[in-house]
Amino acid sequence: EHGLHSAQFPWPHNGVMSSYDHASIRRGHQVYQAVCASCHSVGRLYYRDLVGVAYTEEEMKTALEEVEVTDGPDDTGEMFDRIAKLSDPLPRPYKNEAAARYANGGAYPPDLSLITKARHDGQNYVFSLLLGYREPPAGVTVREGLHYNPYFPGGAIAMPKMLTDGGVEYDDGTPATESQMAKDVTTFLAWAAEPEADERKLMGVKFIFVLSLVLIQAVYYKRWKWS
Ligand code: HEM
Repeated sequence: EHGLHSAQFPWPHNGVMSSYDHASIRRGHQVYQAVCASCHSVGRLYYRDLVGVAYTEEEMKTALEEVEVTDGPDDTGEMFDRIAKLSDPLPRPYKNEAAARYANGGAYPPDLSLITKARHDGQNYVFSLLLGYREPPAGVTVREGLHYNPYFPGGAIAMPKMLTDGGVEYDDGTPATESQMAKDVTTFLAWAAEPEADERKLMGVKFIFVLSLVLIQAVYYKRWKWS
């Protein structure tokens, strides 16, 4: 059964010539870290991916001083803790799917790296889903442990409503309303699913520019040759 189809939102990065809103990616990473990371991984992202996109290298390294990761085994066969590096992936909340299901009443919080690509109309869907929690309509009951959300296929989702006004404190001072957080975290996840998008679009513009010079020169040469 399909969920309710989400409305279409005018994402600033949708155009062929438009880039991501990088301040929004940064705020979205903050929301992900504060709210979503306790249940969802974005396993394809490494800290270095955020450098030059959401943070300067300096900022990222300073932030990593607070992050401990387990590494190893070392040459004595022991695991050890160390400070995170730019080359580390963002941490995963659970060891494996079984542990994730155990902690979530049997439901599996999927890895969010590609969620905006994996779901139909992904970014509009994620945005609508996050804001889509309401009381079930009269006559509809939802099983214990599930939550009514018309955008989720089947209408009952194991993930509780996660966003409430003021849920994070943005370091750029933007008021953290529910819809602002939903927009920012969706932008972050859309970027995470195609981190090369800005570069690709810029390359496209360059190619078209260079090809247009080639075309002008070809036309000129043809006319000169045949005159
Ligand atoms: C599912 C996003 C926080 C637990 C999902 C889905 C998305 C999502 C997009 C997938 C729905 C689908 O399969 O189509 C987010 C975001 C979060 C967040 C952006 C932060 C703002 C959390 C937290 C928990 C959680 C903190 C745990 C307490 C789950 C579970 C599912 C799920 C268990 C599976 C639901 C089911 O299959 O019924 N989430 N999530 N999520 N999430 Fe989250």
